[in-house]
Amino acid sequence: MPRVTFADENKTAECPAGKTLLACAEQMGVRVSHVCGGDGACGTCRIEVVEGWGNLTPPTPDETYKELDPPYRLSCQSKLVGDVIVKVAKIE
Ligand code: FES
Repeated sequence: MPRVTFADENKTAECPAGKTLLACAEQMGVRVSHVCGGDGACGTCRIEVVEGWGNLTPPTPDETYKELDPPYRLSCQSKLVGDVIVKVAKIE
């Protein structure tokens, strides 16, 4: 099972492949805001990928439309393929 680490929270856990990073964060007790409930519409669930960019499913049209550039992804649109290290992105 892929290992997910939230570097800024010092939390690591195994999450099933195919699960979204947002769902993993909730399972791990990491707070990631998600105003639209995971529909890819609000952009508040942004995370920074520290390691393992290629271990997530490719960016969805919702993300490319928002012109999110690496290392940022929408956690509700990013599904696990392998191990990743991420941080919760600060929204200004
Ligand atoms: S929760 Fe709104 S875009 Fe991810």
